[in-house]
Amino acid sequence: MKSEKVKLGLIGLGTVGTGVVKVLKDYDNIEIKKIAVKNINKKRDIENLAPSILTTDPFEIVNDPEIDIVVEVIGGTDPAFELLKTAINNKKHIVTANKELLAKKGQELFNLANEKNVTILYEAAIAGGIPIIMPIKTTLAGNKIHKIEAILNGTTNYILTKMEKDNVSYEEVLKEAQKLGYAETDPTGDVEGFDSAYKIATLATIALNQRVDINKIYKEGITKISANDMQFAKELGYKIKLIALAKLTDDNKADVRVHPMLVPQKDCLASINGVTNSVVLEGFPVGRVMFAGPGAGMFPTASSVLGDILAIVSGIGSDNLLPFMKCNHTKNAQQISIEQTTNRYYISITANNNPGVIGTIGKICGNHNINLASVLQKGIDKENTARIIIITEESIEENINNAIDELKNNSSIVKINNLIRVME
Ligand code: HSE
Repeated sequence: MKSEKVKLGLIGLGTVGTGVVKVLKDYDNIEIKKIAVKNINKKRDIENLAPSILTTDPFEIVNDPEIDIVVEVIGGTDPAFELLKTAINNKKHIVTANKELLAKKGQELFNLANEKNVTILYEAAIAGGIPIIMPIKTTLAGNKIHKIEAILNGTTNYILTKMEKDNVSYEEVLKEAQKLGYAETDPTGDVEGFDSAYKIATLATIALNQRVDINKIYKEGITKISANDMQFAKELGYKIKLIALAKLTDDNKADVRVHPMLVPQKDCLASINGVTNSVVLEGFPVGRVMFAGPGAGMFPTASSVLGDILAIVSGIGSDNLLPFMKCNHTKNAQQISIEQTTNRYYISITANNNPGVIGTIGKICGNHNINLASVLQKGIDKENTARIIIITEESIEENINNAIDELKNNSSIVKINNLIRVME
């Protein structure tokens, strides 16, 4: 064990980086030697920040022989990938909050880290302040986890919660969320499911113990959810949530995807509201375990970064630092496509107000081996059309797609408004 302070280099001083500096000031055994920033002259809300430790060249940090731990909180793959590769080659331990980098380049970085005998920790990258990576790798290590159902994006959960509570449209809530700073000016990464997909790629890899390929994860966002869908879901006993899902099929293939789902109101995930995140794991011998808490924000995210830093500091100098946190995946997951998945479905249909139209819908579904579980129609509207909602029993997605095609070609059907998968 070194007697002098452990030296740390921080890449990025945005919201998370600022939180990390603030929480680290209480630790006398850790020194922040350098911080890489974009703009050295920017005014920052940090007491006693010595301007001399700021640099605009992050390579100064990853190449500094005195720095033991590199903390990366800039996000994105470029230049983060090059920076972390250089740091690992220089035998530095890594703490990162970068979900996109891990999803896209994790395998390469973890292999390099194993080769160089350094550790990469990334608790903050998935579900912000919720401890999930270390629990899976330590306390739950003896389990065979076969399912994860998670809400991993606060922005979308905030929007969906507001839509449901206030009976307003996606567009209206998004505008308000942007005004309040809950949604980005360009919200694509959150609302189209990219952020959740990056997170579930890594989470599924460690929980299912096989490498999951981000490029094979089906992803669908929340932009097509209407206020109508929200209300119908409510009447049928569900809430709509953006769910990141990973499960093992009976033949041990991986079914990993991100899309909106109707979640039964009695399911624990239905009570996760606003910006809160949650991860529900199912495994043997533990059963079903739920984690919930803040998925983003300065201090919650800094809490996870700090935990990782302290874990590394506690063992620094050892030849075998935190062995249980190493990546030991040897198997690539065989991922099934969305067409091969089996789900229950909510289908919202606008049909002409003709006698027998519900029978027609039932017949078409029957043609494709789809059993209906519920049918809901609420009156007739001004155009003499009816909005009909069906919920199916478990069906293969390929059959659903074929039924939708046949429905679209039927003269009684005006429009298929939406199709949303339903949680068991
Ligand atoms: N943009 C994310 C969210 C937080 O809305 O939850 C950081 O991953």
